[in-house]
Amino acid sequence: MNRKQNFKWNNLSLGVCYYPEHWDRNLWQDDLRRMKENGIHTVRVGEFAWSIFEQEEGEFSFELFDSFLNLAEQEEIKVIFGTPTAIPPVWLTEKYPEVLNCRKDGVLFRHGMRRHFNYNSETLHRLASRVVHQVAEHYAKRPCIIGWQIDNELNCEINEYYSESDNLAFRKFLIEKYKTLDALNEAWGTVFWNQTYNDWNQVFVPRTTINDMVNPHLKLDFIRFISESAIRYCRMQSDILRLYVKEGDFITTNGMFSNLDNHKMQDTCLDVYTYDSYPNFAYCMKENPRQNRTLNDRKWSRNLMEVRSICPHFGIMEQQSGANGWNTLSDAPAPKPGQMMLWTMQSIMHGADYVSFFRWRTATKGTEMYWHGILDYDNCDNRKLREVKKIYNRVKNIEEIVGAEYVASVGLVRDYDNIFDTQLDIWHGRIADSSEMEIFVASQLKHTPMDSVYIRENTQAEELKKYKVLIYPHAEILTEKTVGVLEDYVHQGGCLIIGARTGQKDRNGQCVMKQMPGILAPLTQSEVKEFTLIGPDDDDVFMNWSGKQVETGVFNDILSINGEEAKVLANYDGNYYVGRPALIETKVGEGKVLHFGGTFTRKNVEVFLEYTGVLEPFSDLIKASKECEIAVRSKNGKRYLFALNFAKTSQEIGLNRSVTDMDTKEIVKGTVVLAPYETKVYRLEEEL
Ligand code: GAL
Repeated sequence: MNRKQNFKWNNLSLGVCYYPEHWDRNLWQDDLRRMKENGIHTVRVGEFAWSIFEQEEGEFSFELFDSFLNLAEQEEIKVIFGTPTAIPPVWLTEKYPEVLNCRKDGVLFRHGMRRHFNYNSETLHRLASRVVHQVAEHYAKRPCIIGWQIDNELNCEINEYYSESDNLAFRKFLIEKYKTLDALNEAWGTVFWNQTYNDWNQVFVPRTTINDMVNPHLKLDFIRFISESAIRYCRMQSDILRLYVKEGDFITTNGMFSNLDNHKMQDTCLDVYTYDSYPNFAYCMKENPRQNRTLNDRKWSRNLMEVRSICPHFGIMEQQSGANGWNTLSDAPAPKPGQMMLWTMQSIMHGADYVSFFRWRTATKGTEMYWHGILDYDNCDNRKLREVKKIYNRVKNIEEIVGAEYVASVGLVRDYDNIFDTQLDIWHGRIADSSEMEIFVASQLKHTPMDSVYIRENTQAEELKKYKVLIYPHAEILTEKTVGVLEDYVHQGGCLIIGARTGQKDRNGQCVMKQMPGILAPLTQSEVKEFTLIGPDDDDVFMNWSGKQVETGVFNDILSINGEEAKVLANYDGNYYVGRPALIETKVGEGKVLHFGGTFTRKNVEVFLEYTGVLEPFSDLIKASKECEIAVRSKNGKRYLFALNFAKTSQEIGLNRSVTDMDTKEIVKGTVVLAPYETKVYRLEEEL
């Protein structure tokens, strides 16, 4: 199975992030009581508290958190304990500067921010592993503890590492991978621009270069190396935790960041994956002064779809409960009445069975003093706390949903080789980023829920069978293994849609001397004769598909047929290749492949989904405006229908069948008006 999850939540529940070390002890008990009164039964603590546990090197003190856990036990609050390694203390980095990460030009990152360490320093591993041992050994048997969070947000804030320890570790990584320098020179194409290495000591992580250019094949391996380094660091911690954790307690970390194979991290280190969801990042003013970005209101559904692919029944470790704000970085409006509920339901709809808010009370000091929590500085009860209580009542009403599966019959296929490659290749990045976003937008606006489906080392066609349609937009890098999986999927009846530039590269990121789609051509029975970007001066190019003019996006591969089963479905209607094939369909076994020469837009995706019979799968149940997101989770033959209004205006939905409103317990049918940000969850009474 592609997705591994050792831990499943028993019930839907709420939690909050709490920092006992930030507050006067006199506040703790009152805080815990008020949490409970308002439906919060779990706190996450500890992830930044290294210097509380180890004020001086090797001198450990557990008193502060002992006292806090005593109170938590007294108040029957459960605890998720963070390993405190996310910020190494000042004594450590001053004495051992080799643990610090640095800029490309070697300037060390000093204190002030967090995550200033590198994953590869042996000293860091030694000291971090010691504090994790100490903390886990001391606290793991406490009855209030239900789980452990490793560190905090690996690869957040910074996801590139240039320290001397990284140079050494990178060489080791490359020696294991390539064995000989000749093989490395070949894989990196070092003959180009005199980069041939004669000695492993000449190989470095990227360094300062003119225009910041670096050999793209080196960069691809560098990103893989960063991912492996982060996973090794995480594994070091999970191996330690496993020595101490009580039976039934879980190990997690809160993600999901780039330059990191989060699926592998989940499979090799964690029992369950948790995510930090801050939907109002889409409205931060500093980075985004009132820009009109697509579907800002529910952009986070795209992330939640990714999280679900890592771990279908995930948790939210940090759910936004106040305005974003660092004194220097980001600023955004406060959640409007109803939005905390909306965002919580958005998480639950996508598969979360645990939701923990960030944070109980806004910090009165430090960089994050405008990153608002549930309570404000004045510590008074407020509307956000009242909303938490409402959320709690809601969660109780829909409790039986725990563990239900998200239902999708379309998959957006992804893989880490191509994700990493899009980050360093402007051609690949441009088409992949826009296509993936447009596919998401189409799925939202046309109420066609999708899953993200990752092709990994161990992926079998069997796992893909549940998707009637898979869209693999721009798999420039293709491997024989992936091709084998796709072939099996199609032979068994699947419909695979591929887009421009498929099969252009090998795993080193080098272009192959074959017509695209390269090693996929025997399956598609098609080939690419030439290709072009659509330039700023070019008119939009359409294809003529059964009399319909359909967009072909920002890049066009000009196709031709190469096999008996292939037929042209649409020709280009524009630019210098007017009349030449833009879309080829090939029947294979029980299934088919659609080779599309263009990139995806919300409009052409709609046509593809309609053609392949997967558009709006719940239209027999519900009709909703595009401001609403619709999804179904299902369990034991029961289906649960979610309708979320993301708009600041009321929206109508039409229920085509009688369903039970899980909050009012009433049977409803026909038109229902959702107030601004209102959410509904219905149970369908007939069994599947
Ligand atoms: C998260 C992080 C928290 C806090 C929050 C608000 O990314 O895990 O520690 O910093 O953002 O900035």
